[in-house]
Amino acid sequence: VRLEVARGSLLVSGIGELVTNRPGLGAGPLGVLHGVDLVIDGGEVAFIGAAGTAPPADALVEAAGRCVVPGFVDSHTHLVFAGDRAAEFTARMAGEPYEAGGILSTVAATRSASDLGLLEVATKLAREAEAHGTTTLETKSGYGLSVLDESRCLDVAGKVAEEVTYLGAHVVPPEYRGREHDYVSLVKGPMLEACAAKAKWCDVFCEKGAFGPEAAREILQAARARGLGLRVHANQLTHGEGVKLAVEMGAASADHCTHLDRADLEALAGSTTVATLLPGAEFSTRSGYPDARLLLDSQVTVALATDCNPGTSYTTSMAFVIALAVREMHMTPDEALWAATAGGARALRRDDVGALGLGDRGDLVVLDAPTSAHLAYRPGVDLVLTVVRAGHVIASKRL
Ligand code: NIG
Ligand code: FE
Repeated sequence: VRLEVARGSLLVSGIGELVTNRPGLGAGPLGVLHGVDLVIDGGEVAFIGAAGTAPPADALVEAAGRCVVPGFVDSHTHLVFAGDRAAEFTARMAGEPYEAGGILSTVAATRSASDLGLLEVATKLAREAEAHGTTTLETKSGYGLSVLDESRCLDVAGKVAEEVTYLGAHVVPPEYRGREHDYVSLVKGPMLEACAAKAKWCDVFCEKGAFGPEAAREILQAARARGLGLRVHANQLTHGEGVKLAVEMGAASADHCTHLDRADLEALAGSTTVATLLPGAEFSTRSGYPDARLLLDSQVTVALATDCNPGTSYTTSMAFVIALAVREMHMTPDEALWAATAGGARALRRDDVGALGLGDRGDLVVLDAPTSAHLAYRPGVDLVLTVVRAGHVIASKRL
């Protein structure tokens, strides 16, 4: 999607608590201010000052003492698919385990869907994400797994998300069973050829039942040579080499990080690779959560994202993910909010989003709450009142 920047300026007045994520601007690591006005002009934050002192603007959002936070940065979703897997979820809640193979039922449905059908689903989910406060969205292919289907899934992804990822290496499709090496050659050869121009990132599901570290490395190397940035689905279901590989390859993000040992932790801590935690997946597969405390206490940069997909985490709500991170992973409400905004921006190597300092993109959420802690404190309650991206009101409960 091309970012639409608002023509006129927008004043958000009477903000009770403003989280800027710019420590120099206010209190604590989140740079919190109280009783302020904020103006967005030319798509960027142009003014922050005491309430009542803002210059006149073309449009007005009255915060009326509420809390305003940076728009959420959801750095990991899979929105291009057809069908759902409610039956698989129901069976899992009755005791069935989750296996990487479940992906194949979505692949079959996706392959038989029309381009328009795929676009309809992805658009609906992207709008749902916006209504829940997401202003920067990443999404990927990975349910096509043929040159044609991956390529058309990326076309759809590019229409609904700012950040697009090629995930031809999600699982080995059935027609390549027993010929995994041939599939890897396809993914790093003709499929990459067809997909590279449609994506900014390449991701690999490095896992038992998906791709081993050697195959994953080959694919990532080929993608890097084509100018793509790298991300890895790493150490989700079992302990493996994914996290170390992500660090070795200089990936922007190692996603999941559920099964980590000392060496993984040290590798992450000494790197620029962000650990992106996706607790919606552990919630919906009823499995153990990643050790966020250990990561944070080891100075690893942590991001939170939804992983929205029909198999393991069918949610677009970053607020829900924040609540899980606080309750289940012992992150403080401040750490969780930072990870869902500035952390996501780091995971996408973006410095224009995820914060609300002067010159940052004018992406914000007005919460129907006095403080940001309410995001975790009021689980399951949609507190998102108004969502602004680049100075545009893109969702509002009271328009
Ligand atoms: O991030 N881990 C791999 N991919 C998805 C699950 C995809 C699916 O089950 O359809 C994930 O959890
Ligand atoms: Fe995922």
